[in-house]
Amino acid sequence: MTSIPTSMTAIGITSPGGPEVLAPEERPVPQPGEGEILVKVAAAGVNRPDVAQRQGLYPPPPGVTDIPGLEIAGTVVACGPGSRCWKPGDKVTALVSGGGYAQYCVAHETHALRIPSGLTAAEAAAIPETFFTVWHNAFERGGLKAGETLLVHGGSSGIGTVAIQLAKAFGARVITTAGSAEKCDACRRLGADVAINYKTEDFVMLTKHATDRTGANVILDMVGGDYIERNYEAAAVEGRIVQIAFQGSPRATVDFRRIMLKRLHHTGSTLRSRSVPDKAAIAQAVERNVWPLVAAGKVRPIMDGIFPFREAAKAHVRMESSVHIGKIVLGM
Ligand SMILES: NC(=O)c1ccc[n+]([C@@H]2O[C@H](COP(=O)([O-])OP(=O)(O)OC[C@H]3O[C@@H](n4cnc5c(N)ncnc54)[C@H](OP(=O)(O)O)[C@@H]3O)[C@@H](O)[C@H]2O)c1
Repeated sequence: MTSIPTSMTAIGITSPGGPEVLAPEERPVPQPGEGEILVKVAAAGVNRPDVAQRQGLYPPPPGVTDIPGLEIAGTVVACGPGSRCWKPGDKVTALVSGGGYAQYCVAHETHALRIPSGLTAAEAAAIPETFFTVWHNAFERGGLKAGETLLVHGGSSGIGTVAIQLAKAFGARVITTAGSAEKCDACRRLGADVAINYKTEDFVMLTKHATDRTGANVILDMVGGDYIERNYEAAAVEGRIVQIAFQGSPRATVDFRRIMLKRLHHTGSTLRSRSVPDKAAIAQAVERNVWPLVAAGKVRPIMDGIFPFREAAKAHVRMESSVHIGKIVLGM
């Protein structure tokens, strides 16, 4: 039986600001509640929403710890009341609502998945946030099917590198945008059929060109702003545009006539605020549809780099520099 300490080191946000506000501090080890497990964290994924939280722009939902971190991998060390899925010693990766940047973290038992064999803890920690988001938004919400074309913006991001691989694995064509020639090359190596440098090329024109003027059936967009109208132009008839972020602006002046003329669907979602059952349903769908591909090595998290947990600030500097390709992870 592993002994569990009463206090732990976590990365706190001393006040909203730059990466330097991330600092190690002592916190009580959290107690697993009803249906929850306590995980000794071996690695934690870093995601763009963590940067927004650090800046004070994305507060944790009510009742959720202020410690950042939305995904972890590690070993179950305790099970809360009513929790039946796991036992101490199990190696899991889990989606969490916060608290990942810490030595111990609680997760709902239904948001944890067994680590596929052959993956390191760092690779496993790089999975939940991006795989859950891409599965739900591109496939469940966007309804992407084999033979269709996906346009995914930000192809070299944590999200984008997963979207490219999953869409290809399920038989779709992939067009992607990224901000440099090097990033476009990386996207092509991952399987993207077309990679567009959005800083020097027009993605609307090139998407039409690549689809015999038909357009993209599904567009996964993390930019917003003036991309909204341009996405409507790049979309096929009955196209589905799924909004997962607004790195540009959440506001735009848009000519909406294309929605009628092309019978477009524009939707979106955010993972963190979803209910426990909603996230459990996404976890089950990912386990059923995606886990076999990960276990077979056909789809994998693309690792940019692993930073020591206490150097979370450096990990955020790298993410904000946007030179990274794929996932940044904190290792304990
Ligand atoms: N809705 C949800 O449930 C959910 C869940 C997780 C993440 N997200 C969002 O998804 C996005 C990606 O997250 P991440 O953790 O994967 O972050 P990340 O690795 O830091 O990726 C951000 C990406 O955005 C790209 N980008 C910025 N402006 C762009 C533009 N105008 N055109 C094309 N690409 C552009 C950047 O590419 P360049 O450097 O080349 O510009 C970069 O690759 C974030 O906005 C995050 O908030 C949403």
